Amino acid sequence: VNRTPLIAGNWKMNLDHLQSIAFVQKLAWSLKDARHDFDQVEVAVFPPFTDLRSVQTLIAADKLPLEFGGQDVSQHDSGAYTGEISGAFLRALECKYVIVGHSERRQYHAETDEVVAAKVSAARRNGLVPVLCVGETADDLEQHGPSAVPVAQLQAAIAGLPKTADLVVAYEPVWAIGSGTPATPEQAQTVCKALRTALEEALGQDAAASTRILYGGSVKAANIAGFMRQPDIDGALVGGASLDVAEFASIARYR
Ligand code: G3H
Repeated sequence: VNRTPLIAGNWKMNLDHLQSIAFVQKLAWSLKDARHDFDQVEVAVFPPFTDLRSVQTLIAADKLPLEFGGQDVSQHDSGAYTGEISGAFLRALECKYVIVGHSERRQYHAETDEVVAAKVSAARRNGLVPVLCVGETADDLEQHGPSAVPVAQLQAAIAGLPKTADLVVAYEPVWAIGSGTPATPEQAQTVCKALRTALEEALGQDAAASTRILYGGSVKAANIAGFMRQPDIDGALVGGASLDVAEFASIARYR
């Protein structure tokens, strides 16, 4: 099965409005100049909610082959949930993807596995592809070894999904996020392989073979190639290094 690699930039709460717009424009030029083949490597950005409309308008006006999505989604579809953003709102902005269960949401917003599972469902109900984040903390790693926690998080989030569900999984060891110390490609491969086995057990062989598993955690242009050489790593979820156009474009052009 051919899994199109995905390089995804999670801007978190970093770029302001003007920076977001300039970024998308410059990224498009840079990849165009380099004759980037978007069929070979898909590129997506995840701006803050308040910039999704502008990013959508720019991408549509210039017919840019970039994908984009939200950084989070409500588990509810509508109602009295002050501050929440529904899957339908994101879909109406033509988001393809939405990040679900990022460790910063789990950590700072007390998102449990149950909430994350409900958000995966909400994303799917509304025609969005969830980019489901899983990963262990340094303590988890010490206590349970490398794969146990991410695999359990994945199992909890996908229980009951149909076998044909379109899903992206992002393995992000919490200790590697923003730390400047990425996992080694071999470490990441070990966990991503375990995640693929868990996908197979839960959703069957076809889903396991077609689902993209990304690595995230201190990815930059200088280390992306080692991850992309691993058989079970199909792309990257990039934080800090996605805030610089030249750096992010060269991550997308790792080949
Ligand atoms: O969503 C992205 C990750 O949290 C990775 O962040 O590339 O800054 O380590 P980082």
